[in-house]
Amino acid sequence: MSVAKPLPHDAARLHVTGAARYVDDIPAPANCVHLAFGLSPIASGRITSLDLGPVRQSEGVVAVLEASDLPFANDVSPSIHDEPLLSEGDVHYLGQPLFLVVATSHLAARKAARKAVVETEKRDALLTIDEALAAESRFEDGPRIWEKGDAGEAIDGALHVIEGSIEIGGQEHFYLEGQAALALPQDDGEMVVHSSTQHPTEIQHKVADALGLPMHSVRVETRRMGGGFGGKESQGNALAVACAVAAQVTGRPCRMRYDRDDDMTITGKRHDFRIDYRAGFDADGRILGVEFEQFARCGWAQDLSIPVADRAMLHADNAYHLPTARIESHRLKTNTQSATAFRGFGGPQGMVGMERVMDHAAHVLGLDPLELRRRNYYAEMDAPGGCPPPAPPESISAKKKPEPDLPGDSTIDVASRGAVGTVPEDGPPAVPQGVQTTPYGMAVEDFILHGMTDRLASECDYAGRRAAVREWNAENAVLKKGIALTPVKFGISFTLSHLNQAGALVHVYQDGSVRMNHGGTEMGQGLFQKVAQVAASRFGIDMGAVKITATDTAKVPNTSATAASSGSDLNGMAVKAACDTIRDRMAEFLGERHQAEPASVRFEEGRVHVGTESYSFAEAANLAYEGRVSLSATGYYRTPKLEWDRLRGQGRPFFYFAYGAACSEVVADTLTGEYRILRTDILHDAGASLNPAIDIGQIEGGFVQGAGWLTTEELVWDGEGRLRTHAPSTYKIPACADRPRVFNVALWDGQNREDTIYRSKAVGEPPFMLGISAFLALSDAVASCGPGYPALDAPATPERVLAAMERVRDGV
Ligand code: MTE
Ligand code: MOS
Repeated sequence: MSVAKPLPHDAARLHVTGAARYVDDIPAPANCVHLAFGLSPIASGRITSLDLGPVRQSEGVVAVLEASDLPFANDVSPSIHDEPLLSEGDVHYLGQPLFLVVATSHLAARKAARKAVVETEKRDALLTIDEALAAESRFEDGPRIWEKGDAGEAIDGALHVIEGSIEIGGQEHFYLEGQAALALPQDDGEMVVHSSTQHPTEIQHKVADALGLPMHSVRVETRRMGGGFGGKESQGNALAVACAVAAQVTGRPCRMRYDRDDDMTITGKRHDFRIDYRAGFDADGRILGVEFEQFARCGWAQDLSIPVADRAMLHADNAYHLPTARIESHRLKTNTQSATAFRGFGGPQGMVGMERVMDHAAHVLGLDPLELRRRNYYAEMDAPGGCPPPAPPESISAKKKPEPDLPGDSTIDVASRGAVGTVPEDGPPAVPQGVQTTPYGMAVEDFILHGMTDRLASECDYAGRRAAVREWNAENAVLKKGIALTPVKFGISFTLSHLNQAGALVHVYQDGSVRMNHGGTEMGQGLFQKVAQVAASRFGIDMGAVKITATDTAKVPNTSATAASSGSDLNGMAVKAACDTIRDRMAEFLGERHQAEPASVRFEEGRVHVGTESYSFAEAANLAYEGRVSLSATGYYRTPKLEWDRLRGQGRPFFYFAYGAACSEVVADTLTGEYRILRTDILHDAGASLNPAIDIGQIEGGFVQGAGWLTTEELVWDGEGRLRTHAPSTYKIPACADRPRVFNVALWDGQNREDTIYRSKAVGEPPFMLGISAFLALSDAVASCGPGYPALDAPATPERVLAAMERVRDGV
């Protein structure tokens, strides 16, 4: 069987040799023109005059389009139609596209775009969380509040009460391949679009609206992205729509890519947050209640901010059982780039809030932070890594759901991924007796972190190394070390329940070769490889017999974004269903031919065994073809058991949880604030891994990206709302030398208790949050400098670390 094998990524060789073709590498068709946006020079106000004469006269310019030139919808929003492709006069952030230049080369378009004479009337820009709060500038009417019991009362009555606040910066996606699109007008009015997108159906939908066409006349193809990380769920819409509109207007193929500065200036990033907290603990360090106020800076348009902020609320507990909790979430509208999806989708911010509470409480109570964490873990129901127990009670899944109540808007269905929930008729699903629930009322039935933490702590010698760190710090005045072990529990499913579906299309040819297609997109995470392994396993054939093909809206329609880490869960199951349909047809045909039970026909190691006969898979396929058996099938899957009321914050938004734990050790220089990650040990739960090599790659990459977010990656806007860090010269992502000097990653040896594809678990996002261990190891190092609590904000740049060391020394 191909599943569970550590096979290389199908395109690994192409990636490392530079042969892999990305959107901008597709050879330019004759006649192709290139696009660039002219951008707003102010963060908030009106364009009072826009003189495009010099732009039109610039060398190589073919056409210049303004909002009024757009034939149909001027809208690239993935949610509530609040995001015009081109400004209609009002501007909402510095960098907002005002007009579109079509020219004979990329450079000519970019040069021309700078020649506009723009006059503006400025309004006061709301740039920060505090400014937005003061102006009551927000999405939705007021804060969203979810409550479990009376947290205020529980905290007031607690022996130990801690209170504080943490600022958490945003993050630039820094996908190596920037946003890109290519539109090819066809002879019959159809538009073919190649887009670097995680969401081809969304591109198809927005392009169709912009061209006034039904969706059947737009075909979107995506072979691969050079990284997406959530930044290509919605942010590719503008380029694809711009190319399609310009292609319709000029009749010529159009292509567009943002150069790095434009990409960083125009597109949305991870939401920065401030989280205020208050928590009460008993004498043993058990948490009695917690209150969080989460403030999310969402930028100028709604985009995916509502479900992102929801997911932050949904991860405010992380791995801990909270007897009472109150979570209040503010979705603030500011004159900055429209913040968007980024690996973890708000979950990381929510989780950092909880981990800060644990770290702070351990400091105040004088307990080992790991011991405090363990005391507050959810209870474990099954033996660690054990086989799935009998199916959980039916009451969780078997209710009929009414249609979601969409406020006069159907676009949100296709595009967003959690803005609206299904509303159960009669309250939250019943929770089995004795099972602990999350603050949103979901039973935590699959908790395995006790066993995982035990194994990780012993394998990395947490206790011994913690003592050694203490000793080091007692003896060394300049270099201080720190260590932290932090857990991750991450919910798997789109919280907009209807997005949890997928389709596939599989063909078996008469020579026994297989062509496979599904709705998922490849962004480096290895989805195509994993799903091809599933297909090969279903037919019992070699990987070489399975052809991986580009995602194509003409092959599999109505797909969800490849997001929420659900790519392999959803598309793996859909491909399995399609393969099994074909396999069953072949088995029936061959069984009849040999008077054998279809169920007795076996597909193994490239052969098909029926009765006493055995054929090569190719022979069997050819026989079935000659026997007039259809060798092509679609497959479909939808995730079971989901039931979620987001307004009340009650139900089961997730099919299951993925778990992980990481221990990081750092050293920091008290003279400069500079630091290094010395060692990280990770134990991560990928269920029964579909491909351990790819999964370990996801874990390593996720950790490094998460650690980068919380340490060196700092976004700086100036007082005018201009992003000052818009290139790698000023925005510092982790480089090879920044990885932990010792980096041990292991997979937890278990399987998903829920019935997922080969009992695997989603692995794309959860490891990102293992990076929190590096941040809290820094906090630990800083804490050794004196009596105070570091209260480190993120990102913990050397400047912030140095400032925190001074505060701690002064006992602040
Ligand atoms: N890994 C690579 N190499 N490149 C990416 O862009 N995106 C991440 C994660 N891992 C990403 C990645 C994000 S944000 C998600 S949601 C998942 O992959 C999506 O893919 P999956 O659902 O197939 O895991
Ligand atoms: Mo990932 S943020 O769900 O694209």
